[in-house]
Amino acid sequence: KEKTLAMIKPDGIAGNYTDIIKKTILDSGFSITQEMLFELNEETVRSFYAEHATKSFFPDLVQYMSSGPVLIMVLEKVNAIADWRALIGPTDANNAKITQPNSIRAMCGLDLQRNCIHGSDSPQSADKEIMFFFNKASSDFFVTTEVYGPDISFLVIALG
Ligand code: GTP
Ligand code: MG
Repeated sequence: KEKTLAMIKPDGIAGNYTDIIKKTILDSGFSITQEMLFELNEETVRSFYAEHATKSFFPDLVQYMSSGPVLIMVLEKVNAIADWRALIGPTDANNAKITQPNSIRAMCGLDLQRNCIHGSDSPQSADKEIMFFFNKASSDFFVTTEVYGPDISFLVIALG
């Protein structure tokens, strides 16, 4: 079996898509072997998306990905990496709605940037990204509390 890294991005969490995305993951034959709710600071996002550092959209991407909590999961299945990329659909959620209406980005993404979900794009990226989030020392983490209105609060692990 193969492992890949999935992440529900801030717009996906804020839009309450967590449960439907997790159901889709399980219904598609993946198991979720690890998961953690993180709040990423800008430095962590810059490091995670370092391959895009020279792109014009990078500052917007850093701002977006640090704008709220993200749910990071390790997914396991035969051919997990390619199958997960296929299931999330194309980068641009507007394009996904036309060309791959059953994809996760078609279901919950908003546009080219706010596309609600991440997937590792190769075996090398999957290894690197799983290490990035799950091979940390406990001293790299601190716990914050996110509050979403008067009655809803939950713990978030922040990195940085
Ligand atoms: P990830 O799974 O998040 O890595 O997306 P991807 O592999 O489909 O796309 P890519 O790695 O090329 O881009 C990373 C992320 O940057 C995308 O998921 C978008 O959130 C954002 N992004 C990519 N291209 C653009 C763009 O042209 N404009 C803006 N504003 N954001 C972009
Ligand atoms: Mg990518």
